[in-house]
Amino acid sequence: MMKVDLIFPRGFCFGVERALSMLDDALAQGQPVYVLHEIVHNTVLVNAFREKGALFVESLDDVPDGACLVFSAHGVPKSVKERAQQKKCRCIDTTCPFVERIHKWVSKLEKESCPIVLIGKRGHAETQGTLGQLDFPQRAFVVENEAEVDSLPPADKIGVAVQTTFNADKAEQIQQKLARKYPTVLFQKGICVATAERQQAVKDACPTHATILVVGDRKSSNARRLVEVAEQAGRKAFLIETPADLTGLDITEPVGLTAASSASEDVVMAVFRNLTK
Ligand code: F3S
Repeated sequence: MMKVDLIFPRGFCFGVERALSMLDDALAQGQPVYVLHEIVHNTVLVNAFREKGALFVESLDDVPDGACLVFSAHGVPKSVKERAQQKKCRCIDTTCPFVERIHKWVSKLEKESCPIVLIGKRGHAETQGTLGQLDFPQRAFVVENEAEVDSLPPADKIGVAVQTTFNADKAEQIQQKLARKYPTVLFQKGICVATAERQQAVKDACPTHATILVVGDRKSSNARRLVEVAEQAGRKAFLIETPADLTGLDITEPVGLTAASSASEDVVMAVFRNLTK
């Protein structure tokens, strides 16, 4: 039997549980519920909500005026909220409070005319939502790695924000490089507690495990960051959406098994049973 250890903490974070319960409450009222983008990056859960009647859409054009509309945990640009108000939608905003804190931070920086550097993944829903809090998002700079700091323009002062699910070590390296480049760097902690704890737990498991398996959706940023953290520690690491993904993998024992913040524990248990049967 393969030796598999469950890594703790793993799986659903506060923000995901909150978003799922808010969507459940909206559906319980028996009205059509439109959800702009996936509520969280978990295809199985999204399909389960679809069966319960949730209508997932990618654009407000697909939402009728006056409808009940749910915004995902990743947050949305302020222009989306404004348009939803014009359409007189009844909005339920599940944006995680940790993401909202970053929204407030970048808005404050813009009001103070401070150039903004956002450490995050370009094109990710959270990054787009954060930039979308600004009146002039095109003036902010998104940085994904240390090398990109070199191409930033000079300034006396910058303000830095970080995507909640970014790789904590990489963010730290980028921040240090920014601190060397700019005389004054205003910084607010961006990586959320859940992300930091899950990444640290994987780091702690790496010395004693040959392979790290991360249960999560391929679209999930925090799932891919957990794989990255294990690979940085020199471990084999694989992202698993369902137990079927285990087929053909070159897994070496002992295995550390974890899960992204949007991954369900029943999939973790199914993977565990599959490995240890
Ligand atoms: Fe919120 Fe962090 Fe989870 S930002 S949704 S607590 S991963």
